[in-house]
Amino acid sequence: MTEVLLRGRILSFHDEPLNGEASTDTFTYLEDGGLLIRDGKITAIDDYAKLRAGDGRNVEVIDHHPHLIMPGFIDCHIHYPQMQVVGSYAGALMEWLEKYTFVEEQKFSNQGHPDKIGSAFFDELIRHGTTTAAAYCSVHKASVHAFYTEAHRRNMRMIAGKVMMDRNAPPGLLDTPQSGYDDSKALIADWHGKGRQLYAITPRFAPTSSPEQLEMSGTLAREFPDMHIQTHLSENTAEIAFVAELFPWSRDYTNVYEHYELLGPKTLLGHCIHLTDAELSTIANSGSVAVFCPTSNLFIGSGLFDLARLRASHVRNAIATDIGGGTSYSMLRTLDEGYKILNIQGQRYHPLRSFYQATLGNARALALQGIIGSFVTGAEADCIVLDARATPAMRVRMETVETLVEELMLMQTMGDDRTIAEVYIAGVAAKSTLN
Ligand code: GUN
Ligand code: ZN
Repeated sequence: MTEVLLRGRILSFHDEPLNGEASTDTFTYLEDGGLLIRDGKITAIDDYAKLRAGDGRNVEVIDHHPHLIMPGFIDCHIHYPQMQVVGSYAGALMEWLEKYTFVEEQKFSNQGHPDKIGSAFFDELIRHGTTTAAAYCSVHKASVHAFYTEAHRRNMRMIAGKVMMDRNAPPGLLDTPQSGYDDSKALIADWHGKGRQLYAITPRFAPTSSPEQLEMSGTLAREFPDMHIQTHLSENTAEIAFVAELFPWSRDYTNVYEHYELLGPKTLLGHCIHLTDAELSTIANSGSVAVFCPTSNLFIGSGLFDLARLRASHVRNAIATDIGGGTSYSMLRTLDEGYKILNIQGQRYHPLRSFYQATLGNARALALQGIIGSFVTGAEADCIVLDARATPAMRVRMETVETLVEELMLMQTMGDDRTIAEVYIAGVAAKSTLN
């Protein structure tokens, strides 16, 4: 039995802080808090003095004052084969995919490449305080094995899937409806539920899947009703026009996924920028999640995610980096760019809501609340330690910061991987022990 008591300022949400500062009933904040962890799970959260007094045994105490301990960040949409795509100079989505992304992803059929990138990928997630991600692998089975092997070795809770794509891409990136189905099924058998690993059925997006492949993706979804499904939806206007050409019978883009029974409460729809009211209502009724990818949407020039409109339509939402369309692995950078996108649309977004979203909000979007995303008894002990004075400029700015909310806003605005002082994966220090 391994046991550790983390001491520090502790912040954890148990609901969405819709009323800004007045939402004190939605989170726990302890100035001198303790988080007791046994065998990778949280067994108690309370004032440090109380935990200490109630524990006669000699538990190892790690004091992180003056830093802030929070649940690890969750990234709901990221492409691990795109580490070497970040920052590619392209016009818009289709050009970016064809000129850079599809070229890089083909390299995942090369011996050794998936392992090399896989190892670098998880180092980067840990460095940035991301402890769970919903990730796309490439079309190649080997890329999925490399991903899970590394995730499992590090004991990180991950959701991932083999991309299925059988048209409108280079031959080196195409599977077939049958092989996509067979490979996905074999990967589910190998990895879903192994340790902390979860599988996601992953048809890339409607333009790169034939009707037959989407049909078979729907079959997989029916055979494995607990599984996540991840894909892209309405990121770019040329993409939407292409989908209308490819599926002339469809009412709209969303209707394609609806038709093949790919919508549902465990479906993650990347981007969701250019949607009609009818599509919003279809998505809301299905319980699917719209995933906001701010740095990607700005970098590829896709458009502005209209969170207020989605929320008014009762569409569930999440936030993500979308590496390599996205430009940073950092959820802090992502929250910052998200804030700017919302602000320019007149949608002020409170820092408490941002930090809720990157933790419990995203856990709920993944249907993993109670398991990750908040410090509740029995939850898995993925924790990050945030240092608001991580850089000289932040240190100077912190001299005028008086409240927790101001501190959060500062970390969101100026923070990055340097702000993450330590990361615990299931109670084990992971950032300070990176090679
Ligand atoms: N649409 C289909 N594939 C992709 C991808 O890899 N990245 C982004 N941003 N959009 C996509
Ligand atoms: Zn994506």
